[in-house]
Amino acid sequence: MKKGNKVSMAVIRRLPKYYRYLGELMESDVKRISSQQLSQLTGFTASQIRQDLNNFGGFGQQGYGYNVEDLHTQLGKILGLDRVYKTVIIGAGNLGHAIANYRSFEEEGFKVQAIFDADPRVIGTEIRGIKVRDVKELEDFVKENQIEIGIICTPKVVSQEIADKLVNSGVKGIWNFAPADLRVPEDVVVENVHLNESLFTLSYMLKEKMSE
Ligand code: NAI
Repeated sequence: MKKGNKVSMAVIRRLPKYYRYLGELMESDVKRISSQQLSQLTGFTASQIRQDLNNFGGFGQQGYGYNVEDLHTQLGKILGLDRVYKTVIIGAGNLGHAIANYRSFEEEGFKVQAIFDADPRVIGTEIRGIKVRDVKELEDFVKENQIEIGIICTPKVVSQEIADKLVNSGVKGIWNFAPADLRVPEDVVVENVHLNESLFTLSYMLKEKMSE
């Protein structure tokens, strides 16, 4: 894809799902797949899948379908998963612990370099061998170690202040778990994981189903 060509967020949000299914197909030793078969797996229509992939140059061949390994590699590159990112976690509570302990993120290339907290009872402890540092050291650490992603697992009330510190010290990506909409400059991207909102959506759908 040419630089500057904007692909819609709706397409981008489908790519990780394609990537995941292709990974599973590789594990099952499947070599090639048609858009119809991908459609059955993912629930998206075959034409949707072809359109999505055409944004990046197609990859498929008429009558052959897609080479599973090739497409997996290409999608990995498109998603930026062909490199390693340096990350820090801020907030070593329940969620900070869960994320730090989840090895799969590291295997995908997201390396946790340090964890920060404000509570003296937590500072100095370790999670999976990673030291919990005083949040006062956050900005210096981020600058010195050229951290690219900050993972915010603090209470909502301090999340904007933490985001500002991350941005001021050069972080370009924030993975935000605090239930707040952060204000950041245009060159910084925020991906929110608002678990509460997801739960409320489930609640709505459940309510609709039960009234059918
Ligand atoms: P927690 O209370 O277990 O952990 C928060 C941690 O942040 C504590 O260790 C605290 O000392 C630290 N902290 C407070 N102020 C700080 C500061 N200025 N700088 C650095 N660290 C600071 O909370 P939990 O459950 O881990 O949740 C974290 C965030 O994720 C919250 O915003 C919460 O609303 C959100 N969340 C958590 C969920 C979960 O499953 N645990 C579910 C949905 C949202």
